[in-house]
Amino acid sequence: MERIIVIDFGGQYNQLIARRVRECNVYSEVYPNSISMDEIRAMAPQGIIFTGGPNSAYKEDSPSISAEIFELGIPILGICYGAQLMAHLLGGKVATAPTSEYGRTKVSVMPSSILFKNVSIDTIAWMSHTDYIAEAPEGFSITASTRVCPVAGMANAQKKLYAVQFHPEVNHTVEGQKIIENFVYQVCGCRGEWKMSSFVQDTVVGLKKRIGDGKVLCALSGGVDSSVAAVLLSKAIGKQLTCVFVDHGLLRKDEGDEVEAVFGPNGAYDLNFIRVNAASRYYEKLAGVSEPEEKRKIIGEEFIRVFEEVSKKIGAVDYLVQGTIYPDVIESGLGKSATIKSHHNVGGLPDHIDFKEIVEPLRLLFKDEVRQVGRELGIPEYLVSRQPFPGPGLGVRIIGEVTPEKVRIVQDADAIYREEISKGIDRWRAGELDGAAKNIKTGVVAFDESSEGHKLTKAQKAVNRKGLYPVWLPDQYFAALTNMQSVGVMGDGRTYDHAVVLRAVHTSDFMTADAVHLPWEILDITTNRIVNEVKGVNRVLYDCTSKPPGTIEME
Ligand code: XMP
Repeated sequence: MERIIVIDFGGQYNQLIARRVRECNVYSEVYPNSISMDEIRAMAPQGIIFTGGPNSAYKEDSPSISAEIFELGIPILGICYGAQLMAHLLGGKVATAPTSEYGRTKVSVMPSSILFKNVSIDTIAWMSHTDYIAEAPEGFSITASTRVCPVAGMANAQKKLYAVQFHPEVNHTVEGQKIIENFVYQVCGCRGEWKMSSFVQDTVVGLKKRIGDGKVLCALSGGVDSSVAAVLLSKAIGKQLTCVFVDHGLLRKDEGDEVEAVFGPNGAYDLNFIRVNAASRYYEKLAGVSEPEEKRKIIGEEFIRVFEEVSKKIGAVDYLVQGTIYPDVIESGLGKSATIKSHHNVGGLPDHIDFKEIVEPLRLLFKDEVRQVGRELGIPEYLVSRQPFPGPGLGVRIIGEVTPEKVRIVQDADAIYREEISKGIDRWRAGELDGAAKNIKTGVVAFDESSEGHKLTKAQKAVNRKGLYPVWLPDQYFAALTNMQSVGVMGDGRTYDHAVVLRAVHTSDFMTADAVHLPWEILDITTNRIVNEVKGVNRVLYDCTSKPPGTIEME
C-alpha cells in the first residue's frame, strides 16, 4: 500500500498534514521524531513530510532526526520548522529572522519547481515563524521567497528534497492542497488508490479482533462523532455493545428527547440504548466554578463516574468507546504541542477509570473525514451533516459559572438563533432575503455566474444547480452567554441583564475558522426575538473573531 509518513516535530498541524495527504487518496500517518531509520526503511514509504514546530532548529535540545534520513532515497518535504531543520542538518544557515511573519502572506514561487506546478507565481500562504533559513544548503536552489523571507522555499530536485517556510496544509494557504498534491503525485510518484471505505473495513476488522467477545460500553451523545463511533462498533460487535446517553443538563433545547427518538428503543438502530438524566448532579458539581479548565475537568470526570455506575449495573464492562476525533486530541496537548484546552474525553479523563481499556476508533480523523465514514456506514445524511456540539455542551458556551438559570437562557436564545437561520435558508431559497438577486457581496447567492469569464468548479455548479445552500451557511453556529451584565432600557424601565453572543463560523477542519458574514436580516430578527422572548437578556453581540486567534467555542 502506498503511504507517506509525517514526522512530528511538535507542530499544531501535524495530523492536518496527514489528513491532506489522505485527501490525495494516499494513506498517511504521523510518527514521532524518535522513529529509527530501520523503522522507516521497513515501512518503505513513498515520501516523508517533516512538520512544523515551536523550537529553533539550531538549538541543541530542539527535536531533531538523524541526517541519514536524507540518504534513504525517499522524497522529503520539510514544512516550517521541518524546512529549517532540513536546512540546518544539511549545512545551511538558520537564524532569527529580522522580521517575523505571521498570517496570510504573499509568496512568490518559481513555477519551474515541480512542487509549484500549476501554482500562481504570486500566491497567498499562511506564515507563522520567528526563525528563517538565512542560507540554503549547498546543492539547493531557492524556489520561493517573500518580501522579508529570502528562502520561503528551497529544493534539491536531484535528491528529491523540498522545503517550504509556510504551511501548505492550512486552508489559509490558498493553493496549499495543490502543493501537497504536487509533492504526493509529482515528487513521490504516488497513484492515489487509498479510500475512506478502506478505513471502515480495516477499522471494523481491527475492532473485532481487539474486542473479541468483550462487553463494550459506548458514550453516545447524539453528536456526529459518537453516533458514527457507535454505529461503527455496532457493525463490528453487534449485541456486545451498550450505548449510554448522559443528559448532563447542558444540552441544547429538547435535544435529550430528540437523541432518544433516533437512537432509543423506538429509533432506527439497535444499540442497547440507556438514557441517564444527570442534570442536577452536574449543576451541583459546577456550582461556584468559573475557571474553564476546571469546568471541563469536572464535566469530563462526571461523565466517567456516570458510566462507571451504569456499567456496574449492567455487569463487567471491558471497553469504553468514545467518539474522540483528532482536533480534540491535538488541542488537549499531544507530544510537544502546547495545550489550548482540555477537550472533554481526553484531558478531562480522571486518573482512575473502572474499565480495561478505552477504544477511540476515530482518534486520527478530522470532522469531515468522520462524516465520510458515517456516509460509508449508511448513516442518514441529516445525522451525518449535523453541526458539531462539544462534549461539555453548554458548559463551554456559558462563560464563567454555570447555573440552571444561565442554561435556560442559552438554550432559549440558541433555539431562536437556529430557527432563524433555518428560516433564513428557506427565505434565501424563495429569493425573499434582501439582496437575494445575484449579489455576491451580501453572500446570498451560492456562486456568481453572471460575471464574464468566471469559471465555476464542478462543486460550485452542483450547488447552483440544486440551489440548496447559500454561501453564508455556517459550518457551526450557536448562541453563548457572556459573563457580563449591562444596563439597558425596556418599556420605561432600566434593566441590568445578561448579554448573549452569537457565533457563526466557516471551517472545514475546525483547526482554523473564519467568522461568517451572516445576512443582517437574520442577525436583526434573531436579536429582536432574543431580547423580547428570553427573560434575563437585554443585549445581543456578534462574535467576529477568526480562529486563530480565537477558538470556536467560548471556553
Ligand atoms: P474550539 O473551541 O476548540 O472547537 O475551536 C473546535 C471544535 O471542537 C468542538 N469542541 C469540542 N468537541 N469535546 C468535543 O467533543 C470538547 O471538549 C470540545 N470543545 C470544542 C467545537 O464545538 C468545535 O467544533
